[in-house]
Amino acid sequence: MEISTIAVIGAGTMGRGIAQVSATAGFHTRMHDVSRVALGRAVSEIEKNLRKGKDLGKITEEQWAAGQQMLETGTDLEELVSGADFVIEAAPEDARLKVEIFERCEAASPAHAVFASNTSSLAISELGAGLSDPSRLIGMHFFNPVHIMRLVEIVLSPATSPSTCAAAEAVALRMGKETVQVKEAPGFVTTRLNALIGNEAFWMLYEGLASARDIDKAVKLGLNHPMGPFELVDLVGLDTRLSILRFLHERLGEKFRPCPLLEQYVQEGRLGRKTGRGVYDY
Ligand SMILES: NC(=O)c1ccc[n+]([C@@H]2O[C@H](COP(=O)([O-])OP(=O)(O)OC[C@H]3O[C@@H](n4cnc5c(N)ncnc54)[C@H](O)[C@@H]3O)[C@@H](O)[C@H]2O)c1
Repeated sequence: MEISTIAVIGAGTMGRGIAQVSATAGFHTRMHDVSRVALGRAVSEIEKNLRKGKDLGKITEEQWAAGQQMLETGTDLEELVSGADFVIEAAPEDARLKVEIFERCEAASPAHAVFASNTSSLAISELGAGLSDPSRLIGMHFFNPVHIMRLVEIVLSPATSPSTCAAAEAVALRMGKETVQVKEAPGFVTTRLNALIGNEAFWMLYEGLASARDIDKAVKLGLNHPMGPFELVDLVGLDTRLSILRFLHERLGEKFRPCPLLEQYVQEGRLGRKTGRGVYDY
């Protein structure tokens, strides 16, 4: 199947990044959000990234032109997905909301359309609960910032068909991404590992083993991670990390029990860079 039009649902941090790499890859890209403000912000953010990419020689003239010409936006979901061959959902991490979005997409899009969710932890089969054909649903877990991070984790539910998987692989490849395939499980590979490392770092800080700066330094210089676990959680948001850990704890057991220090920081409103204070002050 030839994929020429991609609809992206949600124009937040991830949706706008996905729309950007979709447009620069030459797909007709239709970005949807319930909020006009979010759409406006997304378009100016994409323009800023493209200008910077062009100035730094990271994107070609052709990609720059495609980024300008291939992107349209709208607040009417049904209209946006009506001609889409492929839909990538990047709405908030709320299972009920995603189930409803996919139901509406299935009713309004062509019969051949493939549906992908950018969820970072939820089970793909649960998100397909309202679909009459769940074989068309797959997970495509992009990373932040989407135009820089190279991986897409492709997540297969027991119902996902080989042709749906092939379509997702082809889309990721054309967007310039590398892929790994993972069977559906809470947190897949990356979210599960990252949550465990980040939580363990909080336990070390809680036990007074070392300072936050030294734990970050040890992980960067000794283990060759580009960022320390506390720098990373301040970027991701401590509240987001806590909700992922609670979910993994419920599904996978004791080793994911959130560290009390993380819970305390969230209660105190220390959510990371976005609130000016997380593990570090900004
Ligand atoms: N932020 C990350 O680092 C990251 C990384 C990988 C995956 N994810 C996943 O990507 C998804 C989106 O996360 P985000 O960080 O971009 O969130 P975000 O809050 O930045 O953006 C969500 C957007 O969805 C819009 N929205 C709300 N309800 C909607 C609806 N019914 N229909 C369409 N749009 C709607 C909001 O207006 C907002 O613009 C989540 O499932 C998240 O788990 C996030």
